[in-house]
Amino acid sequence: MQFSDVEGDLSEVLLTQEEIHEKIAVMARQIETDYAGEKLLLVGVLRGAVMVMADLARELTLPLEMDWMAVSSYGAGTQSSGVVRILKDLDSDLQGRKVLIVEDIIDSGLTLSWLLGNLRSRGAESVEICTLLRKPDAAKVEVDVRYVGFDIPNAFVVGYGLDYAEKYRNLRGVAVLAPHVYA
Ligand code: XMP
Ligand code: MG
Repeated sequence: MQFSDVEGDLSEVLLTQEEIHEKIAVMARQIETDYAGEKLLLVGVLRGAVMVMADLARELTLPLEMDWMAVSSYGAGTQSSGVVRILKDLDSDLQGRKVLIVEDIIDSGLTLSWLLGNLRSRGAESVEICTLLRKPDAAKVEVDVRYVGFDIPNAFVVGYGLDYAEKYRNLRGVAVLAPHVYA
């Protein structure tokens, strides 16, 4: 789906498909350098990270495995509470593995900070984070993120895996959702 297909729902285009793909290639080269000779386990966080995972995994020239987790923050509303519930756990044993968490976006950082602690407690040799987007102005906790694609303004964004009420995930780029859509 293109921006033009949902034009009235968007207030600003942030990133085109081309810009995202270029950035993912840059991140992949960094990851290849850092993990040369290693076998990686990419852990995607469902469902938003599906597109980043698909593009990043195909761009990487390293041997790798992919696994998936689904988590949900307790509490109502759009704000993350930091209390996280596992909806779907990994199938892999993390003992001795080099793990790279693949995320779509870091907002408050609460979800990822919890996930980092959880995965590190499972005996992995290392656990690092790769996120396509980060909202620096929304950070509530410091999370040590090794690979960041783009720092973006503190606005609700959709596309490239990110949804509003499960819509817009299939948008090729990333855009700010117009307030009238959720008002
Ligand atoms: P925290 O606040 O714990 O939350 O870092 C991260 C999760 O919140 C969702 N999220 C968004 N989803 N547009 C979205 O579609 C956004 O602008 C946005 N900000 C946060 C997302 O699921 C992410 O994993
Ligand atoms: Mg989401």
